[in-house]
Amino acid sequence: EKDLGTDLAKVLIPEADLQAKVQELAGQIDADYAGRDLLLVGVLKGAVMIMADLARALHSPASMDWMAVSSYGSGTKSSGVVRILKDLDTDILDRHVLIVEDIVDSGLTLSWLVSNLRSRDPASLEICALLRKPEAVRTEVEVRYVGFDIPNEFVIGYGLDYSEKYRNLPFVGTLAPHVYGGGS
Ligand code: PRP
Ligand code: MN
Ligand code: MG
Repeated sequence: EKDLGTDLAKVLIPEADLQAKVQELAGQIDADYAGRDLLLVGVLKGAVMIMADLARALHSPASMDWMAVSSYGSGTKSSGVVRILKDLDTDILDRHVLIVEDIVDSGLTLSWLVSNLRSRDPASLEICALLRKPEAVRTEVEVRYVGFDIPNEFVIGYGLDYSEKYRNLPFVGTLAPHVYGGGS
């Protein structure tokens, strides 16, 4: 039987820490958007877990919509190309939009997404990202709600994949080098 555990180098953020952080972020978002009609925009597929947990942790009603964009190929490196695979179903004109992402790595996906959505004239546009890598801190993308700043390692789990696998892990971990051919 294949054991997910053998593919892991280590658990970076345990499930309980993720869930506690989601509650904390939801509390801030509830306070900031009090009395406003909030539209959560999840970025498929990585944001599925944070979107589902964050939305359920909010105390005020929020709408949910999804975009699918891709900046990575199937491997561990960013391709530098952002494509829309699925656009929003919602017209965001005059809406309060909060983009929900699993991770800001190079910041390429979010900087492209922000300028794309801004051109549709929402009433407001902010970002919530569960994870942020060091490079992203240096980009112009301003992330209003950040869960964790993490080291520059390849992370999987809680929505994050390696070649479409490991998204279903309930925690965030790093991948063992043998999985991507980086050692034995
Ligand atoms: C990953 C991740 C972010 C983006 C971050 O998505 O979920 O959306 O890359 O990288 P960046 O800051 O360097 O642009 P990916 O394109 O792998 O698609 P996925 O969400 O379907 O896994
Ligand atoms: Mn993604
Ligand atoms: Mg991916």
